[in-house]
Amino acid sequence: MNPFKKFNMWFNLAKKNHPFDHTAFALGTEDKGVPHIRMVLLKLILEDGFVFFTNLNSNKGSHFRRNKKLSMCFYWESIHKQIRVIGTGRIVDNKTSDDYFNTRPRGSQIGAWASDQSSQIKSYSYLKQREIKFEKRFKGLSVPRPEYWVGIKIEPKEFEFWQQGDYRLHNREVYSLKKKVWKRKILSP
Ligand SMILES: Cc1cc2nc3c(=O)[nH]c(=O)nc-3n(C[C@H](O)[C@H](O)[C@H](O)COP(=O)(O)O)c2cc1C
Repeated sequence: MNPFKKFNMWFNLAKKNHPFDHTAFALGTEDKGVPHIRMVLLKLILEDGFVFFTNLNSNKGSHFRRNKKLSMCFYWESIHKQIRVIGTGRIVDNKTSDDYFNTRPRGSQIGAWASDQSSQIKSYSYLKQREIKFEKRFKGLSVPRPEYWVGIKIEPKEFEFWQQGDYRLHNREVYSLKKKVWKRKILSP
């Protein structure tokens, strides 16, 4: 089976059965040999990749600018499944980022301006002051997308589908892209 097809099947199963946000995944970046992970949300599934949105000036954004290799890990406990993906990140075109930004609630749009993501701030109230500042700036106007706020598409080179089995005999199925063909293998759990 094509791993994208399998991904979609499992993702839809999680959508129906996982009581929490099934779009949340751990995103891995690398910086100076050190791995970093944090949760983000999967917002678009395209034919050739998975898109999340973030601030390009954040820590993850600067890691990504230095090293385009990214990894993803979903875990849906309620359906006993994990999916891991390793791939290459690319910034999506402006229209894709604009279209998604325009669907966000106005408060989140203002928040994207107010938060200089990952930078040190004096206090939480400073952030609230920034929110008020941008509310004033955009009063009566639609909020434009800040140019640093973008979608990043992860184009997979490898998928691992993990299905929990009895007595820790889990089923691990790996698909790797070799010369544009997906090769499948099974790993011992
Ligand atoms: C469930 C969940 C979903 C999140 N979704 C996003 C997201 O889609 N984009 C984002 O930039 N940060 C998201 N965050 C915040 C990140 O985990 C992280 O704190 C932030 O992006 C800064 O990370 P960085 O300093 O490594 O760049 C989310 C956090 C949680 C707990």
